Amino acid sequence: MNLKIKFSKLPSSLQNLIKVVCECAQRSNFKVYLVGGIVRDLILEKPNFDLDIVVEGDALKFSEVLSEYLGVGFRRHHSFGTATVFSSPYRIDLATARKEFYFKKGALPKVEPSNLFDDLKRRDFTINSLALSLNKSNFFKLIDYFGGFSDLKKKVIRVLHKDSFLEDPTRILRAIRFKERFNFKFSYSTYKYLKEAVRAEALGWVSFHRLRDELKLLLEEEEPFRMIKALNRITGLYFLGIEPLEKEDYSLLRKVKKAINWYKENFPHKRELDEWIIYLMALFRKVPLKKMKNIIDKFGFRRGDRIRLITSKKVKVLDKLSKNIAPSRVYKILESFSFEVIIFFYSLTDSKLAKNNIQNFLGKFNQMRLAIRGKDLENLGIKPQAIYGKILKRIFNKKLNGKIISKEEELKEARRFL
Ligand code: CTP
Repeated sequence: MNLKIKFSKLPSSLQNLIKVVCECAQRSNFKVYLVGGIVRDLILEKPNFDLDIVVEGDALKFSEVLSEYLGVGFRRHHSFGTATVFSSPYRIDLATARKEFYFKKGALPKVEPSNLFDDLKRRDFTINSLALSLNKSNFFKLIDYFGGFSDLKKKVIRVLHKDSFLEDPTRILRAIRFKERFNFKFSYSTYKYLKEAVRAEALGWVSFHRLRDELKLLLEEEEPFRMIKALNRITGLYFLGIEPLEKEDYSLLRKVKKAINWYKENFPHKRELDEWIIYLMALFRKVPLKKMKNIIDKFGFRRGDRIRLITSKKVKVLDKLSKNIAPSRVYKILESFSFEVIIFFYSLTDSKLAKNNIQNFLGKFNQMRLAIRGKDLENLGIKPQAIYGKILKRIFNKKLNGKIISKEEELKEARRFL
């Protein structure tokens, strides 16, 4: 089957880039193929900016030629014969066609160079095992050794062989992710193999870092709530130290979703949230701090993520925020928390006052600044410089509380410290 019609539907920037790859392969005598997610998404007509290319031969050499051809940079990776060429907004990942050998369950496989067939055969699901030729003689011919095209049409997730989940248990999470993302079904046997792998506790064989990355990808999907529901139903969350979810957990997750939407609607110019971590905070809600710390350290979350997860346990601040308190107090309570934690608190509380205080913090107090600086205090002759921080803080609190507004008033206030 030839997918030239699909090719003509691609944005022209992507068409041009693919043509260049094809041209370059022809000139340098390499056999290259578009593979994996991009082929799947191209057939589903969903945008994808990550091009995975398999090269029969040395992908590093081809990357060098291609990056020169495009006049852009490229980066070699440590892992076997792989490199990335950046051609904004696209990212081209190139890999030498390879065969994989699994020696130990859950561990990374040994690899050796091979051909396209072997490279597709080692993949997770039929829908991800499709390739498109980028060679002049059969440009955009679909290569479908395992029935991926028909599964895409039938909306089915199917593994290529029965040991797929045992060899690479992260595929359990990937299967759930793709199923929920596309609203597909598992084939009968795929679901059976998946459940067998879950029962064998295969998720426990994988390194925590790989699990963490897959979990993050799940929570970064467009509908994390849906992903979590499926995860809870299919694998359970024990691998995360979390008990099966109950009604109240779902209710909190729904509130998280609402709070994130509220943030996006009300503060469109503020920075984008790392939404995934707010969902994770909700999942860890009932896990005691000490246990959660052990889990996140085991999984090796990044320092910033670790801090956000830990501070999300300081829910006591909600008691303080649920009172009628001065803006300067609201500021003091919330200033050290990251926005993700604040949004988590917002979803946790039912108090109107707390919600209002958070709204004011995000909408007003957080962007308030003094017009005067230390230099102005120096010009006024205030000494010593060591107390400038304290003085400015006091003036700032008055400003937060609406007692002073203009720069003049700030200076007047500063003079009182003379
Ligand atoms: N792959 C696999 N087994 C894994 C991970 C990846 O077989 N455990 C293969 C799949 O063929 C997949 C390709 O490697 O299509 C690229 O992996 P990745 O970029 O993670 O997946 P995409 O399919 O591109 O998914 P996404 O749309 O989420 O980026």
